[in-house]
Amino acid sequence: MLNFWPFYIREVWRARLQGCNRIALFGAGEHTRWLLGIVQNLAPPEVVALFDDAADRIREIRGVAVLPPGGAGDVEFDAVVVSSDAQEEKLLARARECFPGRRVVRLYEGLPPGPYDKQGELPAGIDTLPGPAETVNLETVVQVAGAVETKQRLIEVFHRMEPDPYVRRITDGYARAISRFGPAWRYVDLWCVLYAYARLARPVRYLEVGTRRGHSLAAAWAGWADGGGREFAPVCCDCWVTGYAGTENGGPTFVTGQMKRLGFEGSIEFLSGSSHELLPGFLRSSAAGFDLITVDGDHSREGARADLLEVLGSLRLGGMLAFDDINHPQHGYLGQVWRESMTGRCGWETYENPRDATGIAAAIRYRRA
Ligand SMILES: C[S@@+](CC[C@H](N)C(=O)[O-])C[C@H]1O[C@@H](n2cnc3c(N)ncnc32)[C@H](O)[C@@H]1O
Repeated sequence: MLNFWPFYIREVWRARLQGCNRIALFGAGEHTRWLLGIVQNLAPPEVVALFDDAADRIREIRGVAVLPPGGAGDVEFDAVVVSSDAQEEKLLARARECFPGRRVVRLYEGLPPGPYDKQGELPAGIDTLPGPAETVNLETVVQVAGAVETKQRLIEVFHRMEPDPYVRRITDGYARAISRFGPAWRYVDLWCVLYAYARLARPVRYLEVGTRRGHSLAAAWAGWADGGGREFAPVCCDCWVTGYAGTENGGPTFVTGQMKRLGFEGSIEFLSGSSHELLPGFLRSSAAGFDLITVDGDHSREGARADLLEVLGSLRLGGMLAFDDINHPQHGYLGQVWRESMTGRCGWETYENPRDATGIAAAIRYRRA
């Protein structure tokens, strides 16, 4: 039989504690141990203290300190939540007595008096749901990606690399748009999302399918560095098609040099050759997976689809996948490839922007399906 109480608590937590960021629980018994096991995996409010008349005997539960009701000191909280099902009425009266004028919330108001039977199977996965600070969401990534400051930083980064006519055309466009539209200008391309995600999430393991002259790698690295990342381990897969986008496609030595110009001192693992031949074996041996993956290599319909489906299973929880060119005039099918590959996947948040440049899509894996 399914134990529905965790669901109940989650709903009550959301509904009755709206507007609260920090709360204290009143009562430090078994109910509180059980309750913390549920709410510590949920969105705010955060439980910052437990109050109990027996604070001299119980010091902490699940990492939260137990204090005597008169000993709140400078602990700040927005409400006191009564934490008992067997003695809710009694603890409610005591909480009101100890915290006159403060907001005191009941969890079981409107129900017949407890205790309630909380045995039974927990709904699968309820205790593994990531909290809001564990997974950055795409709305936040897109906000940072779209900001003018991100483009200014990319202009600065790319201008320190070997000149590239294609990249120069885009960065000149950035500069003109900023001077014309000002700080309200919003624009998101592959480099912007990579920079933004890396700055916010500080990925360690980055897999890039399609590196060319290193600009997407540089964007991810710059975001990671600006976000204060400590370790960055990129893997770049490219078959270095000669003259790609009308410029020399210099391969590992050239890309390593590009990154050195930016101050990157770590090492880059190169998979030089066709992604379709190299990725399957490589990913099988990389059980740890990746925090950030870019798919921007083979632009044929079947090739891009194969790359996407190949890498999906290697994205870690909280990781982001970026897929470029969903509205490219020469590869009009890539948007469809993206949608066919991503639609209906449980636990993934997706983003599509066909408007800017040649179109960009991204997805964050926020939950195991
Ligand atoms: C669009 S460019 C990558 C641009 C890079 N992501 C950036 O934004 O700076 C595509 C790259 O994919 C490579 N490529 C094309 N087909 C490939 C394949 N089947 N396997 C590996 N690399 C491939 C090309 O050599 C080229 O360098």
